[in-house]
Amino acid sequence: MNYRHSFHAGNFADVVKHALVLWLLKTRQVAGPVTVLDTHAGAGLYDLAGDATRSREAEAGIARLMSADARPPLIEALAAEVAALNRSGDMRWYPGSPMLVARNLRPDDRYAGFEISGDVASLLVDSLKRYPNATGRPGDGYKAVLSEAASVSAPLVLIDPPFEQPDDYVRAAETTLAILKSAPKATVAIWTPIKDMETFDGFLRRLGPAGPTVVAEARLRPLLNPMKMNGCAMVVVNPPEGTDEAAVEICGWVVEHLGEQGGRSEIWRL
Ligand SMILES: C[S@@+](CC[C@H](N)C(=O)[O-])C[C@H]1O[C@@H](n2cnc3c(N)ncnc32)[C@H](O)[C@@H]1O
Repeated sequence: MNYRHSFHAGNFADVVKHALVLWLLKTRQVAGPVTVLDTHAGAGLYDLAGDATRSREAEAGIARLMSADARPPLIEALAAEVAALNRSGDMRWYPGSPMLVARNLRPDDRYAGFEISGDVASLLVDSLKRYPNATGRPGDGYKAVLSEAASVSAPLVLIDPPFEQPDDYVRAAETTLAILKSAPKATVAIWTPIKDMETFDGFLRRLGPAGPTVVAEARLRPLLNPMKMNGCAMVVVNPPEGTDEAAVEICGWVVEHLGEQGGRSEIWRL
């Protein structure tokens, strides 16, 4: 597997995902202690002076966000997290989901993230070592999450595969359904790219029986070239109250400020 998230860290898709993950965490915290299970954790923290300079995706994503005026609250919340990691004012460090969640855990909350690539898992463990309630573990997150989810009554589960393997759509949908069997009150947030509509629709059809689901789409441009990531979606099963409105704010801002002509955001229920 060749996927390295360090090339993509801080791009528009990370902005959508991380602004919504932050909101989901804070919203679930209102109801009591939260356990976050993250099937595809990545490195935890990204140095934007590395691989990201080659792709320039962060430049078109988080860098533009950080210099934008009048950011709405949920975009501002992500900006505040990024600013806290870059106190010198340079935009060098970008938090992945593990670091974002770990920084916001309270004493009774817990985070466990899984990463299949050995060297990335070492970075993950390293990035979380200051956070006693957060752990990074090497391994296949699709498998590990099933035993973890069974012992928690209502986990917040994040599923964020690279979608480079042809079976990632099937495994993400089947893992979601299996989690909900053992933990019916789990909230499961799945990130997917949007390239062409049939791939995305096929994934949603597989999820069909999962339960109440918000589909939050941020399409940066019309879907004319299926070889490109033209947009992304966060699919939230068992969404907490307010998820639709949060997604409208986040996806709407991203499309308006980071998108191209013909882009659009759409938030709907499956
Ligand atoms: C999109 S990146 C994750 C980014 C991270 N969720 C974030 O938002 O900061 C996907 C990661 O999943 C890892 N990966 C791929 N297949 C996996 C599997 N079956 N189990 C765990 N990790 C996997 C890849 O090595 C890669 O680091």
